Amino acid sequence: MNGPNGNILEVNKLITSFETDRGLLRAVDQVSFSVPEGKTVGIVGESGCGKSVTAMSIVRLLPQPAGKILGGHVWFKGRDLVQASDDEIRRVRGGEIGVIFQEPMSALNPVHRIGRQVVEVFRLHQKISKRDAWDAAVEMLNLVRIPAPEKRMMDYPHQLSGGMRQRIVIALALACRPSLVIADEPTTALDVTVQAQILDLMARLQDEMKMSIILITHDLGVIAETCDEVVVMYAGRVVEKASATELFANPLHAYTKGLLHSIPTLETPSKSVLNTIPGMVASLAEHTHGCRFCQRMGRSLPGTRERPAFIEVSPGHWVENCAVCTANIEHPTSNIEH
Ligand SMILES: Nc1ncnc2c1ncn2[C@@H]1O[C@H](COP(=O)(O)OP(=O)(O)OP(=O)(O)O)[C@@H](O)[C@H]1O
Ligand SMILES: [Mg+2]
Repeated sequence: MNGPNGNILEVNKLITSFETDRGLLRAVDQVSFSVPEGKTVGIVGESGCGKSVTAMSIVRLLPQPAGKILGGHVWFKGRDLVQASDDEIRRVRGGEIGVIFQEPMSALNPVHRIGRQVVEVFRLHQKISKRDAWDAAVEMLNLVRIPAPEKRMMDYPHQLSGGMRQRIVIALALACRPSLVIADEPTTALDVTVQAQILDLMARLQDEMKMSIILITHDLGVIAETCDEVVVMYAGRVVEKASATELFANPLHAYTKGLLHSIPTLETPSKSVLNTIPGMVASLAEHTHGCRFCQRMGRSLPGTRERPAFIEVSPGHWVENCAVCTANIEHPTSNIEH
């Protein structure tokens, strides 16, 4: 059984806040998106936009005691993970949902051998003997193309290269053949060749295992190559979402356009200044209730204190409808959120 709209994951109006010395601040502000079965959904946005906090909220791995989910639902296979008991969420995490963390070293325990760490994941989620778990771990390392896996099982994380460590982290996330994988910047720390190998590997495993993937990245090039759908986040909110083909062909929000413009192309003259989006993502304490991209651009316009409605402009293409940031779009009459 899937979520109310038939997707394996449906995040609905999720609100996540942090208790800080400046009060309770919202890092994720009514975020909604869905992941259809077997598809890859990319979440893109600049540093600090709330991508990782969204991911950590889904699997309830928020920094404690500061992080709290204060509203919304995360429907996964028909269950609301926001309401799930701690035991239930522990079984889902690493079992049905695999997580690949932003920092590979933080996902591996430096004092245990690789083999022990992979075996533990199998033993935690399956009733399986040590011997069988060991064989399954070797098979998993083989699957992620670790050469001489039996030998590598005896290594400590620091004895492996960055690319190799990231493959181990992927092996840990995929060990129990999850139906959903959340990959938070899985290739940022790697050079381009290794990045391409890891992304190929994930695509191949996705095919073999029929997984759905949430891929978090600030690299639109990676999104273009790997994702079916894209969610663009800005300052804790989704400002636009659409299929990847539609988003690249017809971006509507000024922020999405800014992100797309900042990708250098082969036509960019080699010594020219690259396009950037002026200003910075506001800190949580500075967030306005109105259009946050207008806030960044220093625009104070009548009406911008209201949160712009989220509207469906064409089937599956949603945008936060700010009079300035999405000027010139045809306004539909139905499908309006908040
Ligand atoms: N433990 C915390 N306490 C207070 N604020 C936090 C905490 N963790 C994250 N934040 C804030 O939440 C916001 C979103 O952070 P998040 O890590 O989700 O960004 P991100 O989009 O993943 O960025 P990056 O691309 O750099 O990984 C940021 O403003 C960040 O400062
Ligand atoms: Mg992050």
